[in-house]
Amino acid sequence: MDDKLSLNEKIIVALDVDSREKAVQLARELAGSGCWLKVGLELYALSGLGLIEEFKKLGFNIFLDLKLHDIPTTVEKTLRVLTSSGVDMVNVHCGGGYEMMARAAEVCHRADKTIIGVTVLTSMGQQEIASLGVQGSTEEQVIRLAKLAKKANLDGVVASAQESKVLREECGTEFLLVTPGIRPAWSEQNDQVRVLTPQKALEEGSSYLVVGRPITMAENPREALGKLWD
Ligand code: C5P
Repeated sequence: MDDKLSLNEKIIVALDVDSREKAVQLARELAGSGCWLKVGLELYALSGLGLIEEFKKLGFNIFLDLKLHDIPTTVEKTLRVLTSSGVDMVNVHCGGGYEMMARAAEVCHRADKTIIGVTVLTSMGQQEIASLGVQGSTEEQVIRLAKLAKKANLDGVVASAQESKVLREECGTEFLLVTPGIRPAWSEQNDQVRVLTPQKALEEGSSYLVVGRPITMAENPREALGKLWD
């Protein structure tokens, strides 16, 4: 396989756009590149599971990023519906606890889907975390939740690329680390504060890299995807 094509299989393009038409346009431009697509709350609210099936027909793997967080039964039932669609990867908040994660993992694995957890949102600073009653540092909390996710049989976690190294050490080689906050040297940082280049993120132990605006806002998204490793 061509090297760039296999590297593209580690890229998850975040389709954070405000219309179904824009999402489909981007998907068409990226089809055949090997990258994944990430559908988040906004696009899901606009388009539902129908759009996922359309992306599947274009040959994409899909990460449905809804960050479920509810009582175990509700999460389990919702995942039963979601995993009967063409999604390949879904996620839950680790803050939902062990039982919720364990039941979520069971449903997803039965359907042969990948499930990962969200530890601490990177939008939350140390002070905000402390205001929730969490003691210790953000990093300690991230590690605690990642380990709980692993124990509950989740396949991995979403984490800042900056956390990859320590999580790789703490959670082992098989645990998936899906990391946003990726910026190639040529692109703008936008509102991301702590960023890593794609190459560096892989070196630090990331399994999949979530990249949004450097690709979706580019004049030529396909070309921008190709330039990620330059
Ligand atoms: O455009 P950009 O590359 O910054 O997009 C990153 C994507 O990753 C967005 O969909 C954003 O919501 C998501 N994300 C993030 N930081 C997190 C978790 C998810 O940037 N901690």
